Amino acid sequence: MKVHLPVRKAILNRRTYEAPAEGRSDKVRLDFNENTSGCSPAVRRALAKLTTKQLAMYPEYQAPTRRIARHFGLRPEEFMLTNGGDDALRVFFDAFVDSGSSILICEPTFPMYRYYAEIYGARIAVLRHGRDMEFPLEGLIAALRKKPRVLFIANPNNPTGTLLQKEELRRILKAATHTAVVMDEAYGEFSGFTAVPWIRKYPQLFVAKTFSKVAGLAALRLGAVIACEDSLALVRRAMPPFPVNLAALVAAEAALNDRATMQRYVNGVKQLRAWFAAELQKLGVKTYASAANFLLANFGPNGPALFQKLEKQGILLRERSKDIGPGFVRITIGTQSEMQRLLKSIRKEWKAQPWTATPKRN
Ligand SMILES: Cc1ncc(COP(=O)(O)O)c(C=O)c1O
Repeated sequence: MKVHLPVRKAILNRRTYEAPAEGRSDKVRLDFNENTSGCSPAVRRALAKLTTKQLAMYPEYQAPTRRIARHFGLRPEEFMLTNGGDDALRVFFDAFVDSGSSILICEPTFPMYRYYAEIYGARIAVLRHGRDMEFPLEGLIAALRKKPRVLFIANPNNPTGTLLQKEELRRILKAATHTAVVMDEAYGEFSGFTAVPWIRKYPQLFVAKTFSKVAGLAALRLGAVIACEDSLALVRRAMPPFPVNLAALVAAEAALNDRATMQRYVNGVKQLRAWFAAELQKLGVKTYASAANFLLANFGPNGPALFQKLEKQGILLRERSKDIGPGFVRITIGTQSEMQRLLKSIRKEWKAQPWTATPKRN
């Protein structure tokens, strides 16, 4: 049907978002950086206790927000819940970005920064990570002189796994005098670093969090924005009244109250990540140092054929040939048995047809 609707130019120029693959539940899901060990059993118990009355009521946020904020060592004024990490990023566009104003990103990175920027008609200033996925610090400091409205940095970065050094972060914050700096810590728990305490010193700093990764609650869509009270008050003005559902709140509290399960998962990821990277390196596959629950690897020119074979065997990885280079892939660190199965399949294919991997450099 022909439609003549006054759609915004930025929308007119876009294609519809291609929804990610479905039908993944019975496969080895090493493609979305999910917690494949699953959340704390306490979450299921807490959800089962929800009453009919609670489900009929609009959610009340004050008490749960206060309790969840306390887990992060924060006052409720410094903490805002959002509908997933994606929503925690979108709100910066509503609060700071007019059509034509600019945002700054360092690619390859999480694609939602670019995605929202395109929808909002923002200009996108892009820096690239180096050949070895080094963070483009000097370029970034120079780019901040142009006063972009928002700088988005995933720390650790997805898909490179790169973690900023404290001194680098300090330099960025000192240079960002007229820019909101969003530290997206979706994978912060795996890195051992968080910029959260820095909000008390830098009013331009915002930390974005998600419960999809370490807490294993991707289906429930819960995220958060953390900043000093006055800066967060500005962002709050762009939020709808009921962004978060009650089930997500109940689940998040139960997950946070069971620190031991999360810590076990984090420790397991770190061990498996080191072991798996070493095994890939033995096969001549280049890997990049990662501070997250995934690993970026370069399998070289024959990588794409390998990834297809693995997919046929029900092992899903996130190929990055298109945006980083042929043979690049991001591999989520799953359970021990998932990683062993993946390695076995890679080795088998390797014997059948050794691919030309990038030469080992370290
Ligand atoms: C860097 C980064 N930020 C934010 C998110 C968003 O997470 P969610 O919307 O599931 O909370 C992701 C998800 O993959 C991510 O990789």
